[in-house]
Amino acid sequence: MHSSTRIVVTREIPDAALKVLRDTGEIWMSPVDRPLSPHELREAVAGASAVVGMLHDRIDASVADAAGPSLKVVANVAVGYDNVDVPALVKRGVVVTNTPDVLTEATADLAFGLLLAVTRRLGEGDRLLRAGTPWSFHLGFLLGAGLQGKTLGIVGLGQIGQAVARRALAFGLRIVYTGRSRVAEDVESSLGARYLPTNELLESADFVSLHCPLTPETHHLINAETLRSMKPGAYLVNTTRGPVVDEAALAEALAAGRIAGAALDVFEKEPEVEPALLTMENVVVTPHLGSATVETRTEMALLAARNVVSVLAGNGPLNEVRR
Ligand code: DGY
Repeated sequence: MHSSTRIVVTREIPDAALKVLRDTGEIWMSPVDRPLSPHELREAVAGASAVVGMLHDRIDASVADAAGPSLKVVANVAVGYDNVDVPALVKRGVVVTNTPDVLTEATADLAFGLLLAVTRRLGEGDRLLRAGTPWSFHLGFLLGAGLQGKTLGIVGLGQIGQAVARRALAFGLRIVYTGRSRVAEDVESSLGARYLPTNELLESADFVSLHCPLTPETHHLINAETLRSMKPGAYLVNTTRGPVVDEAALAEALAAGRIAGAALDVFEKEPEVEPALLTMENVVVTPHLGSATVETRTEMALLAARNVVSVLAGNGPLNEVRR
């Protein structure tokens, strides 16, 4: 299999994962430290049996066709796979895989960190000190919002949503959640989580954290209308995918003081950020760092590599996605 098996890796991955791939085929890894352009991606995949792709690569029918009939597997190094046209690939007999579970705790840590950062005004405090602004301790200085006894609304109580809920329990928050369906009763009861329809969750939560996948149904789930229905003074945290939030509408709601703040790790048109948001003190922004720990990113790449090896060896995928 080795000499005729081309494995395309669209962006540098850790050595440990390359080692896993090495016995299975000839690896071509992108030499550039940026996303490949659509044209470069199509050129790179020609004749590939496997593609190890990143969330910034749009992998659709044109990419599968550019690869040709040799293509057996696309391993997306992310749990989210909205960048992959799964039906188009499945129709061509290509297996698509993702990297669930290994990034759950790291992403939940970041979501909770963002919640604390925005409610306790950490970015503002940091900027104030760096700017050399005079200050002294006083009882009204840079006051934020406490978490204890308030309500966290989790949109999407999947693995990451549940991991956020576990952290929230330790901080004395009440948990409500919404999503496509209710989770198992034992999960609800262990988290003390109450299911609410989305509109009721938005009306009642002091903090809303988004953990649903990006699908046609969740695109702009948070928009001008739903922002109006949020509890006045609420905070929004987004660590899932940028397009779940209409960024322009969010900037307007913040400017109008309808909600108190937002913390965003993901953006509608990454790497761009709605400029108005960057001018607001009550907005915390991080550049898609949810899974960005050494341990987690290594595990993600290893899992993607193992999926490739397993599929090419004829043993089937470890983490297949079908739609
Ligand atoms: C994912 O895996 O989908 C995250 O957005 C990146 O880790």
